[in-house]
Amino acid sequence: MHANKEFKMTDADYSFISKTVYDECGIVLSHQKKDMVYSRLARRIRALNLSDFATYLVYLQDNKDQEFADFINAITTNLTYFFREPHHFDFLKNTIVPQMKQNHRLDKRVRIWSAGCSTGMEPYSIAMSTIKSFPKDWDFKILATDLDTNVLSTAKAGIYQGDSVAGIDNELLQTYFLHDAQGERYKAKDNLKKLITFKQLNLLEPWPMKGPFDVIFCRNVVIYFDLVTKNKLFERYAQMLRPDGYLILGHSETLSRDVSAFKALGGTIYQKV
Ligand SMILES: C[S@@+](CC[C@H](N)C(=O)[O-])C[C@H]1O[C@@H](n2cnc3c(N)ncnc32)[C@H](O)[C@@H]1O
Repeated sequence: MHANKEFKMTDADYSFISKTVYDECGIVLSHQKKDMVYSRLARRIRALNLSDFATYLVYLQDNKDQEFADFINAITTNLTYFFREPHHFDFLKNTIVPQMKQNHRLDKRVRIWSAGCSTGMEPYSIAMSTIKSFPKDWDFKILATDLDTNVLSTAKAGIYQGDSVAGIDNELLQTYFLHDAQGERYKAKDNLKKLITFKQLNLLEPWPMKGPFDVIFCRNVVIYFDLVTKNKLFERYAQMLRPDGYLILGHSETLSRDVSAFKALGGTIYQKV
């Protein structure tokens, strides 16, 4: 395997990588992912001027503080886009928001969590779908978290290339983004950014926040987890949600019957029961 590739990667190297990634962030790297892992980590080996995977893995263990974040950042899959799975944003705006306005008419406190937010396109889509719904004196906030520090920097900056804003309706784009003369770069305006707090968080580790949240978006994140890790996470989400709160998953993700805290509403939208 990989005999004619630039860097040697043995089966033992791959086993070590997949065990470390599973233990650290719950992501299961099957044998089919070998080529993907090879090409993503080869960039690190090249950047560090090392000779093969074995040397890199020794370097990783000896320099955990500096290298571990880059190692994890190289492994995570960050594909995302604005208004991905648009029915979730329609449901948020047309069904959940009116309920939140009713539920919180006295405390005026609304919390939404985008867990596994990648470069921020999901939380900015949530913000654009809800920003006009709550009067200024409401305490409305979106928490956006990810394990990967690189994607979080992009998310915090809120700057996107022209082709990546294609999913945003033109009126919303003009209202909530500034752009350069060529239309090549778009920057989220401060009123949108102000709604969102970006934080690094490994979903497998203890969570510093208390909640409760009204809605948790966790889309296209658990797809890489095994059943035990997924179920534990869903139980923790149930504890973080208010009694009738919502959990929204990605299109290929389902909640197993073992997790009794939710009922399915269709379209990978779940409500706490
Ligand atoms: C494919 S992206 C999905 C982004 C967005 N939710 C969407 O649906 O467009 C998955 C994200 O989950 C993050 N992730 C994976 N494992 C994680 C973990 N254990 N804790 C926190 N984030 C994790 C990855 O870094 C990545 O940015």
